[in-house]
Amino acid sequence: MEKEISQAVIRRMPRYYRYLGELLDDGVERISSNELSALMKVTASQIRQDLNNFGGFGQQGYGYNVRHLYDEIGKILGLNRQHNIIVIGAGNLGQALANYVKFEKRGFIINGLFDINPALKGVTVRGIDIRMLEDLPEFVKNHKVDIAALTVPKENAMEVANKVVELGIHAIWNFAHLDLELPDYVVVENVHLSDSLMQLSYNIVKHEQEMK
Ligand code: NAI
Repeated sequence: MEKEISQAVIRRMPRYYRYLGELLDDGVERISSNELSALMKVTASQIRQDLNNFGGFGQQGYGYNVRHLYDEIGKILGLNRQHNIIVIGAGNLGQALANYVKFEKRGFIINGLFDINPALKGVTVRGIDIRMLEDLPEFVKNHKVDIAALTVPKENAMEVANKVVELGIHAIWNFAHLDLELPDYVVVENVHLSDSLMQLSYNIVKHEQEMK
């Protein structure tokens, strides 16, 4: 059986991936764990430990091959394939997500936008038509959809989540501030920008106390 990798390690992987991507863009071919450590402000032993979870990838005296490590982490994160996303709730946040082009660079393609507000019907966001929610079953029949992003009001999120699961979409990127109760086979990633702000607020207070 494969060793279970902790979520804490997985949560650090996108940061490695980002840094390695930038190194590649700068033409860097190899890097030692000490150099990577200085760049990312993570201890070299943490880096070695993290990457050892996946079999290491490093070589004594050589360091890491940036391209290889980048590709391997990409595979671990499932970035070596395309993920099609629909966004449900084409309001401020839904449209902002649809407008953001860089997700595509990582293989996340937004191919549908849905809402219930008839005033939005036919409006396009970066070339993507806003469709009415009632058209979703037909859309799912004709398009491959891997992930549903929920950017609807909290009150409607559970109902919408049940609907997408019923239609066979088993991954949800949930922005509504609600813990969705769904079957175990559904993968949910919650995003709460306000949690990040509260973390920032905590660190501001802590910093102020330390400066006193
Ligand atoms: P908004 O009011 O601009 O957009 C919501 C859209 O959802 C509207 O267009 C509305 O017609 C549509 N909608 C309502 N019920 C629906 C349904 N059953 N099916 C499809 N569409 C439906 O609101 P905004 O600012 O875009 O926020 C959207 C959600 O995201 C809210 O729940 C808000 O609390 C949350 N949010 C979360 C953040 C986070 O960091 N997690 C940050 C900002 C907003």
